[in-house]
Amino acid sequence: MLKISNLSVTVEDKLILDNLNLEIPKGKKVAIMGPNGSGKSTLSNVISGKFGYNIKKGNIEFEGKDILDCSADDRAAMGIYMAFQYPIEIPGIANSSFLRTAINSIRKKNNLEPVNTRSFLEEINNIANKLGLDKSFLSRDLNTGFSGGEKKKNEILQLLLIKPKFCVLDEIDSGLDIDALKVISKGISEFSSKTNSILIITHYQRLLDYIKPDEVHIFNDGKIIKSGNSDLVKVLEEKGYKEFC
Ligand SMILES: Nc1ncnc2c1ncn2[C@@H]1O[C@H](COP(=O)(O)OP(=O)(O)OP(=O)(O)O)[C@@H](O)[C@H]1O
Ligand SMILES: [Mg+2]
Repeated sequence: MLKISNLSVTVEDKLILDNLNLEIPKGKKVAIMGPNGSGKSTLSNVISGKFGYNIKKGNIEFEGKDILDCSADDRAAMGIYMAFQYPIEIPGIANSSFLRTAINSIRKKNNLEPVNTRSFLEEINNIANKLGLDKSFLSRDLNTGFSGGEKKKNEILQLLLIKPKFCVLDEIDSGLDIDALKVISKGISEFSSKTNSILIITHYQRLLDYIKPDEVHIFNDGKIIKSGNSDLVKVLEEKGYKEFC
């Protein structure tokens, strides 16, 4: 579904992604783990189309189409979604309005009618309920004053509502209490299917114990230095990155 080939990216002349190659097949859950500052969020941002990165070489194909020249909006409409490591607060924009605008923008670009308001409200209420988010979070301003864990739950709410083909979850588990981690993992597992793909970026085994990735890659200095299955996570947890870096 997503194929990254020989991708090198700089920010302010600093090389952050270094000739990276990575394939995420349809129906697979792929995990990336790596030390702080190794370039994981940069990779997420470059996939989703955030400004400010210099693509020095390489390409990213999504369903066979090179997406590097596509805007973030177009990539979202194609079915790419990213859950932020640090979701941003937007005072003055109600969460439910934001969600409806997001979903209708994607629908418009795909020549679909706007969502029916009643079924939309029903659906977000159901999802919020499943995630243990009180209804009041839908009328509050987007992420404004939400706790760290509430912001992460709201990212998963968006995921379950938008139902993208491919999603990057950048440290979706950071800041979650034990119960919230279970709730979020359940939401991700519910989303996961043979027709979509997930890139999970995490520092910890606990999320991967629930989600069970098909492949695990260790990332350092902007490239993959080791690939394997879930056993790699156990070795990493025991021995740390010094074993690999
Ligand atoms: N806009 C920027 N300006 C300068 N340096 C940047 C910029 N964006 C990223 N970097 C640098 O690129 C490197 C990779 O950052 P990135 O956020 O991708 O790391 P990460 O692997 O996600 O780390 P963490 O595990 O701490 O989230 C870091 O050294 C960071 O300081
Ligand atoms: Mg990061």
